[in-house]
Amino acid sequence: MKRTLLVGVFFFGVVFSFVAESKADVNPDQVYGMLCALCHGADGQPTKQGKQFGSPDFTDVNWQKSKTDDQLLLSMTKGTDNPNYRPIKDMIEELLGVSVDVSIFVPKVRNFGPK
Ligand code: HEC
Repeated sequence: MKRTLLVGVFFFGVVFSFVAESKADVNPDQVYGMLCALCHGADGQPTKQGKQFGSPDFTDVNWQKSKTDDQLLLSMTKGTDNPNYRPIKDMIEELLGVSVDVSIFVPKVRNFGPK
């Protein structure tokens, strides 16, 4: 399981280095589809791997209500108390060597919630 994920993440890095030439090119939809979806699912519902790590269901109205945008930002930059969770800012920086403004992912995550 872990290996599949690592291979996936590595592959993402290779693809990404072709796609993104600069920070300005980081497209939240593209990155979500290639990286975040490994755990969070293309539809915002956690994948099997995601569930093993304890990923939330982004389509759950109660989950959406339980977090402010600031909390999401903080989790994405500093991490949470879930030891399986790596702050995605660090993950992206390490894998791809680009510094990302993770606030671009807040609307993306919110969009999975009930309209
Ligand atoms: C390796 C699996 C994995 C990947 C890849 C991943 N996440 Fe997560 N994510 C998690 C887990 C596990 C949690 C739950 C953390 C917690 O509840 O403490 C989480 C939680 C979150 C949260 C909610 C934080 C909170 O305060 O509750 C957001 C937002 C999020 N991820 C965004 C992203 C985005 C955007 C990406 C892609 C750039 C991404 N994640 C990639 C596993 C992953």
